[in-house]
Amino acid sequence: MTTDQAVDYLSAIRVCRNQAVDRREEALMPDFVGRIVLITGAASGIGLATAHRFAAEGATVLLADRNAEGVQAALQGLGAGPYQAMPFDVTDEAAWIAVAKRITGSYGRLDILVNNAGFGSFKSIADTSLDQWRSILAVNLDSVFLATKYLLPLLAVSGRGAIVNISSIRGIVAAPFTGSYCAAKGGVRMFTKATALECAALGNGVRANSIHPGHIATPLSAPAYADPKIAQKLLDDVPVGRIGEASEVADAILFLAGDQSRYMTGAELVIDGGTTAQ
Ligand code: NAI
Repeated sequence: MTTDQAVDYLSAIRVCRNQAVDRREEALMPDFVGRIVLITGAASGIGLATAHRFAAEGATVLLADRNAEGVQAALQGLGAGPYQAMPFDVTDEAAWIAVAKRITGSYGRLDILVNNAGFGSFKSIADTSLDQWRSILAVNLDSVFLATKYLLPLLAVSGRGAIVNISSIRGIVAAPFTGSYCAAKGGVRMFTKATALECAALGNGVRANSIHPGHIATPLSAPAYADPKIAQKLLDDVPVGRIGEASEVADAILFLAGDQSRYMTGAELVIDGGTTAQ
């Protein structure tokens, strides 16, 4: 090799190395700095863990929950930063219209919507009143429709909007004595897919995906784990041999909300330690 060839060779290596460093730095660029994120059910459990994860990534976090005291405490727990508490009931249509107006006035857009508020009940179909059925569907499913209806125009302004809907493994596989919850979470799963296809058809750049947690330790599931017999039964249902943590669901929510999942829409992500793989 001549001296000139050696110099060319070394400078080519330098260019490649610099390009690799640029690419790595690009990949490490925080995804969420300055992005506007609304999380429902943010006062507790999975929603609260998700609020902390987004805040740590530099996002502007809007915490929605019907528990006014809880959501204030959650806001304080985040410390100083671009965060807001929004105490309202996610089943209330007028409240969603007001929230959309407030976000329009403050930011002019929304980047990420996490529809997480929800709860279930353990009851036979015969013992479930029509009011109880409607209330489970309202909190888990109507809320997702209302949020999508009123916030989609703001997500479209983002250019890379993302909706992450929290369903459940009960939106995929059923269990006895959870009829209303299974119906609601199955509805969330299919509504998410319909939203994804509608957004793709509209070309508004918004993606929609659903998350399906299995057995996760949160205040919602705490009463079940307080009973050793039920706790053992739930544990026996998890191949990896432990109950999941809210932060492990939050990690998956951030993945679906961020650009790493930019080719995913209409997909369902199961976080269940293998429960539904059996
Ligand atoms: P959690 O009870 O700890 O938190 C739920 C939050 O939603 C609470 O802060 C509550 O005040 C709020 N909320 C409930 N109804 C509301 C309403 N009408 N308007 C506004 N806020 C409301 O529950 P967790 O476990 O964090 O659950 C979050 C989501 O994950 C729910 O959709 C739940 O169905 C789902 N999920 C939870 C699993 C678990 O094992 N913990 C398993 C599968 C799904």
